[in-house]
Amino acid sequence: MSEKSEETNSLAPERDRAPDGDERRLNGCVPLSHQVAGHKYGINKVGILQHPDGTVLKQLQPPPRGTREMHFYTQVFARDCSDPQVLSLRPHLPVFYGTWASSDSPNELYLKLEDVTRRFSRPCIMDLKVGRRSYDPLASPEKRQQQIRKYPLMEEIGFLLLGMRVYQPSRDCYVCHDQFFGRSLGKDTLAGGLAQFFHDGVKLHKQTIRLCIRKVQNILRWFESQKQLHFYASSLLFVYEGASGAHTEAEQNNNHHHHLPPQESSHEGSPAKSSCRRGGCGGDLPDSLQNGGQTHGSAPCLRQSNGNVECEEEEEEEEEGEEDSGGWLEEEGSEGHVEVRMIDFAHVFPSESPDEGYMHGLKNLLSTLRKIIQD
Ligand SMILES: Nc1ncnc2c1ncn2[C@@H]1O[C@H](COP(=O)(O)OP(=O)(O)OP(=O)(O)O)[C@@H](O)[C@H]1O
Ligand SMILES: [Mg+2]
Repeated sequence: MSEKSEETNSLAPERDRAPDGDERRLNGCVPLSHQVAGHKYGINKVGILQHPDGTVLKQLQPPPRGTREMHFYTQVFARDCSDPQVLSLRPHLPVFYGTWASSDSPNELYLKLEDVTRRFSRPCIMDLKVGRRSYDPLASPEKRQQQIRKYPLMEEIGFLLLGMRVYQPSRDCYVCHDQFFGRSLGKDTLAGGLAQFFHDGVKLHKQTIRLCIRKVQNILRWFESQKQLHFYASSLLFVYEGASGAHTEAEQNNNHHHHLPPQESSHEGSPAKSSCRRGGCGGDLPDSLQNGGQTHGSAPCLRQSNGNVECEEEEEEEEEGEEDSGGWLEEEGSEGHVEVRMIDFAHVFPSESPDEGYMHGLKNLLSTLRKIIQD
């Protein structure tokens, strides 16, 4: 995880633009277009890919992290698993489909996972790291200090916003925040910063927050029921539907056969290119929520390839199959409108006591979410 803070904020253009080169080598897989945090393909040596079949591929980190994560998923999704505690964890994780490797690099292993965002038309996505400690029991003193320096409030707050993107229907674009936005949030600005994930530029989606609270409560209940695992530097991935109207099947299936076209893969901090940028997306929170976070590391994303609408002026024309045709979307009030899943298990350790650090984070997250609704 140490390399992440040094990463730049744009994907390597050559990789995205070379369908005859790297993409072919990757058997039609492309860098995950809607990744909001973590190691990114083309920036870091390892990263997350999108398989043409709609799953995501997480490249194994160097040992021991990668092997630890692989063993964890293998244990939880083992066919012969009979441990009720472990079995009841499954609904809170992306489905694990085993390991994957491309034919040209059979030794480069990937974890093949359900894409939690796949069924959404305009997925709003947030990655929150949970727990009082971002380092595991085997971390060196240097590693501990490095992690503490990144966010000294972690011990107290128990979670850290690593990245998000929010769809703004009124402007038809995404607003993104990166890990530096998350690290800029203090105790007084936390609720406001988190609220930005639920604010579409015009209104705050309180019902979506309520649904997220319910899902987080379920995860907390799981933690209260178990003593055998401790999770360090693990995340919760929040997803909700950002589209408000009816959309086509193609739009809903946001990961269908897309190869990143040129200049569509930029994320936070890219040079201003869209009309949304000039309009200053993201500055429309009500006064009570305005104090969340600094402005650095936040910007409207350029258009993504995963069925999302572009913001760039030069790409005004509609893509094939994008016009409304009375499709179906989850209602804001229904359970299926949101997903909250645990991801990132490179630092999961066996234990014999409850994971107090993670539970502290969940409880504080729940009270912060409730505060946002009340404000
Ligand atoms: N199953 C998934 N479905 C959809 N998106 C995912 C999934 N897994 C990961 N992502 C995206 O990729 C990002 C990074 O994932 P993850 O935290 O697993 O990797 P990482 O932080 O690079 O890993 P590590 O900490 O092991 O180095 C997430 O923030 C999310 O945007
Ligand atoms: Mg991560």
